[in-house]
Amino acid sequence: MNKSEDSAVIKYYKTKESLWGYNLILKGVKHFGYYPKGKENISIADAQEIMSIEVGKQLNLSKDSLVLDAGCGEGPVSVAIAQKYKYRLEGLDLLDFNVEHANERAKKAGVSDRAHFQVGNYSKLDFPDNHFDGVFMVETFVHAPDYKKVLKEIRRVLKPGGKLVIAEYTKSPDEELTPRQRRILENIIVFSSMPSFRYFINDKFAELISAEGFNDVKTSNISQRIEPMTKKLYYIAIIPYQIIRLFKLQKHFINTMWGVYHYPYNKIGIWRYNITTCTKPNR
Ligand SMILES: C[S@@+](CC[C@H](N)C(=O)[O-])C[C@H]1O[C@@H](n2cnc3c(N)ncnc32)[C@H](O)[C@@H]1O
Repeated sequence: MNKSEDSAVIKYYKTKESLWGYNLILKGVKHFGYYPKGKENISIADAQEIMSIEVGKQLNLSKDSLVLDAGCGEGPVSVAIAQKYKYRLEGLDLLDFNVEHANERAKKAGVSDRAHFQVGNYSKLDFPDNHFDGVFMVETFVHAPDYKKVLKEIRRVLKPGGKLVIAEYTKSPDEELTPRQRRILENIIVFSSMPSFRYFINDKFAELISAEGFNDVKTSNISQRIEPMTKKLYYIAIIPYQIIRLFKLQKHFINTMWGVYHYPYNKIGIWRYNITTCTKPNR
């Protein structure tokens, strides 16, 4: 495991900008919302809840199935899934304060009997082989220092036939980007510590997952469904960003920079949002 890259992720989530932004604007729910067609005006919180339910639906498991939430953050996805689908959830995250909040969230929601969270690293899982019926990752896989190692670990802990669901960004290959777009995406990758994002290429993501030994890989581009939230974040970020840019402070305000560029890049498809499903082979 590359310790310095894991500590870079921890450092990113511990910056004041991340702590304030994720707490004040997103109330600790660190993922994009899913806006069903015709419901583009719902609140961010409602759309985020729909995204969580969508992940649970894609797992498509029976009640009491054992599911791992890898990179659980403050646990909103697991809690929503425990309530709606009655799976049993184990969540893990690098950050102790996220895990603490996740366990509080589960308790408040009345699902602490089926959703537990602990500090852990999905690059080196502390679970036996063939243990989980399903695994999901929501907006965390880009942080992996070595995506192949993570997929190997997930494959190991999944039961044969077990399901993996990944909600994640992909990008256009560098040769299809302008030098400016390349530079901006590279800055976002470096300062938000998302090394694997470099390898998550739009139309090649399914191939990348298949190459690590998963079957039935299906990737669905849902960029349009998250667009209303990218637009809201754009309007929140655009004025502060002008000041940040004036003083060349972008690397200290990476989420604000992200807010400004994600909306247009998502719209033109050079930065996609996908839900990918696949299964571990039955031997
Ligand atoms: C954008 S947040 C998403 C959190 C959560 N999935 C959600 O939807 O609210 C990404 C999370 O992944 C966690 N993370 C990053 N790398 C990790 C790793 N190697 N092992 C476990 N958690 C990790 C971070 O600490 C952070 O909480």
